[in-house]
Amino acid sequence: MYKEFFGLSRNPFNLTPDPASFVSTERHNEALAALHYGVRQHKGFVVVTGEVGTGKTLLLRCLLRLLKDSSDIASAYLFNNRLTPLEFYQFMLTDFGLPAAGKNKAELLLEISQFLLSRSSQGLTTVLIIDEAHHLSEDLLEEIRLLSNLETSDDKLIQIILAGQPELDIKLDSFGLRQLKQRVALRATLAALSRQETVDYITQRLQLAGADPQRGSIFPEETISAVYRYSCGLPRLINTLCENSLIGAYAKKLPVVSTGIVDAVAREFRLDPLLTGRLNDPNSECALDSDDVFLDVLSTLGSPSQTRI
Ligand SMILES: Nc1ncnc2c1ncn2[C@@H]1O[C@H](COP(=O)(O)OP(=O)(O)OP(=O)(O)O)[C@@H](O)[C@H]1O
Ligand SMILES: [Mg+2]
Repeated sequence: MYKEFFGLSRNPFNLTPDPASFVSTERHNEALAALHYGVRQHKGFVVVTGEVGTGKTLLLRCLLRLLKDSSDIASAYLFNNRLTPLEFYQFMLTDFGLPAAGKNKAELLLEISQFLLSRSSQGLTTVLIIDEAHHLSEDLLEEIRLLSNLETSDDKLIQIILAGQPELDIKLDSFGLRQLKQRVALRATLAALSRQETVDYITQRLQLAGADPQRGSIFPEETISAVYRYSCGLPRLINTLCENSLIGAYAKKLPVVSTGIVDAVAREFRLDPLLTGRLNDPNSECALDSDDVFLDVLSTLGSPSQTRI
């Protein structure tokens, strides 16, 4: 509804992780390059972690799109990880296009081993991509490690990418999973965007949605600063704030989003810059900003020396 009003061809801040809306920040680029390299060079295990809403699923979808262009690569993508080992193998085999119905675990393992060996002997690459890997149970992670043991004398038969929230790192640090941790060949980490990256992100997403740069920015600099303050550079929160701000501006028939509109959306979504900043990264530029806000609040209360919680 607001698209025509702002001269856009599609929703610029859709929450679906769509590779067509990918904005290449330095970190996202580096992470994508690491994943692609890991798969291409048969590195075995690659782990990517990042806070909630930093773009992990989008990154995996971009990788899948890249891999689909290569006829020598077969991939399976798992995202529901509250599975038993048997369900896990059934899901994976089905995604590779192999028959899985009615088979027990030993039969499924035999099927996948033969598939991987046959592909490897033809010089083909096979990738298992697991999103939301922080939800994997220790048992399932151990099962996945055993799967990664399938190798010939000079090659790993399956490339495995684990993507998840920082809890995945905590799991991998546990004593029971030290064997798996040692097998991780490459790592990538996603983080919230910096202030400048937030400016570039909003500008590029608007342009990808057809915004006319000649028309003047729908989000002026001070409005983007407000978005940054409330989102602390977390892309999903940036999208939520921007999309709802566009709706708010449209409702008031304003061609430009004001900081007041962003403030109102942030209130509605209960976005607290202090909490978001701390949760995200206590050392981030945004968290430092939040500290200033915090001190301001304390000084207006007349107790600047009060200990912080
Ligand atoms: N580099 C980027 N370019 C464009 N959009 C991005 C980028 N990074 C993140 N986003 C957007 O931010 C939102 C959250 O991304 P995504 O769902 O991939 O996060 P996530 O890290 O998988 O989150 P969760 O931990 O909750 O699963 C999506 O709308 C996605 O399109
Ligand atoms: Mg995700």
